[in-house]
Amino acid sequence: MQTLFIGKNIIHLSEVDSTNNYANQLLRQSVINEGDIVITDNQQLGKGQRGNTWFSEPKMNLTFSLILKPKFLQVAQQFYLTKAISLSIVKVLKHYLDKNISIKWPNDIYVENKKIAGILIENTLAGSAISSSIVGIGINVNQSDFGEINATSLINERLQKFDLNEVLEELCKTIEQHYIKLKTNHLIFDTEYLTYLMGLNEMRGFEISNKKISGSIKGVNKIGQLEVEINNNVEVFNLKEIRFID
Ligand code: BTN
Repeated sequence: MQTLFIGKNIIHLSEVDSTNNYANQLLRQSVINEGDIVITDNQQLGKGQRGNTWFSEPKMNLTFSLILKPKFLQVAQQFYLTKAISLSIVKVLKHYLDKNISIKWPNDIYVENKKIAGILIENTLAGSAISSSIVGIGINVNQSDFGEINATSLINERLQKFDLNEVLEELCKTIEQHYIKLKTNHLIFDTEYLTYLMGLNEMRGFEISNKKISGSIKGVNKIGQLEVEINNNVEVFNLKEIRFID
């Protein structure tokens, strides 16, 4: 691995319930360090956001968790890690695909109108700082059938098979560059995140407190809440408070 620390140590499991859960156990036992990766060929109970499940066919895709210790970030700045990781995945996908890649707030990665990757970051806080982060990443690479799910993969977009290790290495290199930038000046990601934000300044449907409304995304504030203009008023929402209607 041509990196300084990310992915230098890889814990490879043939199967596991969730790489995030496994990484968490290793973290509690203090036997895992910053930059280490837990990866599996067969994740049986992958966790997604909002309590969802992340499905991945065995040996087809990348399902892994990266340990980071962003002690330089305050709790109120944790969304910047989300930005840095989302943008890293966007960059890697752009390297392989000449297509429109976007970030559906907060951190779902889409190729045109289909989801290709998801991120689940679980932070441990120490006072007002972040002592450790488990960055769980699922990227659809060589799986071609997703049933009813509105998803896609590199193979479906590029019509060629990919080497999982190569894609992982590319990701590790890009995440490392972004993580180093994050340490120096986290604010640099603000503009870039908006560049890729799906639906920015476009009227679209949302579901808020079981009501369907129309609004337009105006941005994301410093703590990662979504800013939506509804009837000429900008309101802010947390993840569980708003749903996109496709
Ligand atoms: C989402 O889109 O809701 C987030 C999906 C995150 C999936 C990854 S796969 C590796 C890691 N381990 C998990 O249990 N989940 C994340």
